Amino acid sequence: MKKIGLFTSGGDAPGMNAAVRAIVKTCIHYGIKPVGIKDGFEGMINEDFVELSYDDVDNIIQYGGTILGSARSERFRTKEGREQAIINLNKKEIEGLIVIGGDGSFTGAHILSQEKDIPMIGIPGTIDNDLFGTESTIGYDTALNTIVRAVDQIRDTASSHHRIFFVEVMGRNSGFLALNSAIASGAESVLIPETVTNIEELAIQIKTQNKGKRSSIIIVAEGDDAGGAMDIMRKVKPLLPEFDFRTTILGHTQRGGAPSYYDRALATRSGIYAVELLKEGKRDVMVGIKADELILTPIKDAIEKDAHPNLRKEEILEKLLTSK
Ligand code: F6P
Repeated sequence: MKKIGLFTSGGDAPGMNAAVRAIVKTCIHYGIKPVGIKDGFEGMINEDFVELSYDDVDNIIQYGGTILGSARSERFRTKEGREQAIINLNKKEIEGLIVIGGDGSFTGAHILSQEKDIPMIGIPGTIDNDLFGTESTIGYDTALNTIVRAVDQIRDTASSHHRIFFVEVMGRNSGFLALNSAIASGAESVLIPETVTNIEELAIQIKTQNKGKRSSIIIVAEGDDAGGAMDIMRKVKPLLPEFDFRTTILGHTQRGGAPSYYDRALATRSGIYAVELLKEGKRDVMVGIKADELILTPIKDAIEKDAHPNLRKEEILEKLLTSK
């Protein structure tokens, strides 16, 4: 293999740069030319390719975002878009692809690898952690730390004012970020898409738990079945007129910032492994991590099978939340 194309796609995630750096350095180590594709599938269609050197990836491991840029490409969903991408990949003589992204990006890359018959390796990069075949995706740990820091700050003001805060976190349709940040921030409650939210029960729970406390934090996953944090607050408020409520939506603050140790190390190990897999002739697999070992999952499974947060962890919250 003489040339490998690499790209970041979908929502950016802290640690993507560390993966890009590892891929480029490993390619150069093996005498392979690494070609960066800018803005994901959009760059593939626009022929926005750049050959990467050691210098390009120097001093980037500590930065959030992605130096390659990212996009959610509508054009790539069309046959014409993909045909143009294939013409450009052929012109550039790219023999293998590494995609760093989430399930949408893997779906696109999987279709492409079949239509063009090109080997492709996936590296999970998304703060949502919603991919089957790995315990952690690149960016997830950093986003969790960002949420926990933010909730700690909200707690200061909440307890100064005897307030109840609904804090909305990202995660799309999955509750990984919400559940684990709730445990780590000492939240009083958590609402996630994997369980049904009942507003009346929630109001009773808030009333019971808030007795003798100066504040309560309720973490709401953005994909919860009862709506976003603002909707839920509006529904709960009339049932508990005696309480003072506020809502904070953490939004895209969760996607930026310097990657944690964990995400840098995971991204670096996965990037090196992805190049080695292409060299060995592997294709259509995703590099995941389990018990600190890198593992492989067919891309098809990573896309089709669901990843769920460990719901037994909800019991942790229940145990800590018996009222005073
Ligand atoms: O998939 C990552 C993610 O940040 C989700 O948590 C969120 O729902 C979505 O992307 C937001 O996407 P965008 O940045 O395109 O609004």
